[in-house]
Amino acid sequence: MAYLAPISPSLSIIRKPQLTIFQFVFSPPNPLFSRPRIQNLRMPRNKTSSSSVVVAATTAAEKQKKRYPGESKGFVEEMRFVAMKLHTKEQAKEGEKETKSPEERPVAKWEPTVAGYLRFLVDSKLVYDTLEGIIDEATFPSYAEFKNTGLERAEKLAIDLEWFKEQGYQIPEPTAPGKTYSQYLKDLAENDPQAFICHFYNIYFAHSAGGRMIGRKVAERILDGRELEFYKWDGELSQLLQNVREKLNKVAEEWTREQKNHCLEETEKSFKYSGDILRLILS
Ligand code: HEM
Repeated sequence: MAYLAPISPSLSIIRKPQLTIFQFVFSPPNPLFSRPRIQNLRMPRNKTSSSSVVVAATTAAEKQKKRYPGESKGFVEEMRFVAMKLHTKEQAKEGEKETKSPEERPVAKWEPTVAGYLRFLVDSKLVYDTLEGIIDEATFPSYAEFKNTGLERAEKLAIDLEWFKEQGYQIPEPTAPGKTYSQYLKDLAENDPQAFICHFYNIYFAHSAGGRMIGRKVAERILDGRELEFYKWDGELSQLLQNVREKLNKVAEEWTREQKNHCLEETEKSFKYSGDILRLILS
C-alpha cells in the first residue's frame, strides 16, 4: 500500500458511498488498485497531470459503476437478465429457480382443461385491459411512449372469447388472480412508475416468448391446434418488440440507479402475479 501514498488526494473518489456499495455487491477487482491504473495515477503532480489523474480516476470509477449484468446493452437487457433467472430450468435454459408450483413444470407435461384455459384467458384479458387503459390515460408522461406499440392484447383476447362463445362455451367472470393483479397494477401506475414499467415489460415480453410456446402446446392438447388471436400480432413481432425495447431503454435513461434497481426488484412480484394467472390453465 505504500505506493498509494503520493496519490491519496485523487483517491477520495473511491470513498464515495455508492462505489463502496458496488464493491460489496459485486466484489469486482477494484481497478484503482491494480498495477496499470496505479501507474497511470502516479504522474508528476504539476497542473496538467493532476487533471489527468482526475480523468483517469473518473474513468476507473465509471468502469467500476458499469457492473450490472446487461447494463452495457441498455436497461431492457438488465430486466431480461433478472427475469430469466426467475424461470425454472424446465421453463427456460437460463432459468435458475427451483420448481415448486405446477405451472413451473415443463409445459409438455401439463394437463390443461378448456374450462381452466378460459379462466386464464379471461383473467389475462382483465390484466391487459387494465394495462392498456393505464397507458392510454398516461398519468405519467412516460407512459404515453407505450401507446399503440402493436403489442396490445386486450382486443385480440376479446375476439378469442367471442369465438369460444360461438362454440357454445360459457365465458366465466374474472377470478381472484386477475382481479388482484389488475388492482395492483392500478395502484402501481399511480404511485410507482418504475415498478409499473417492470410489470409492463414482463407481461408483454413473457407473452411473446414463453406465452406463445404455452399457447401452441395447449392448443395442440385441447383445441385441435387452433391458433388463437392472442398469439397473433399485426406486423413483424420481432420488430414490434425491438421498438418497445428502444422506448423502454429511453425512458429508463432518465432514471437514477436507485430507481432502476427498484424496477428490477419488482420482477419477482411480476412472476408471482403472472404465475397465479398461468396456474389457472391447470385449474
Ligand atoms: C410456464 C411458464 C413460463 C415458461 C415456460 C417460460 C419460458 C420462457 C422462454 C423459453 C423464454 C425465452 C428464453 C430465450 O430467449 O432463450 C422466456 C423469456 C422470457 N420470459 Fe418466460 N416463461 C414462463 C413464465 C414467465 C413469467 C411468469 C414471466 C414474467 C411475468 C416471464 C418473463 C419472461 C421474460 C421477460 C422473457 C424474456 C423475453 C425476451 O427476451 O424478449 N416468463 N420465457
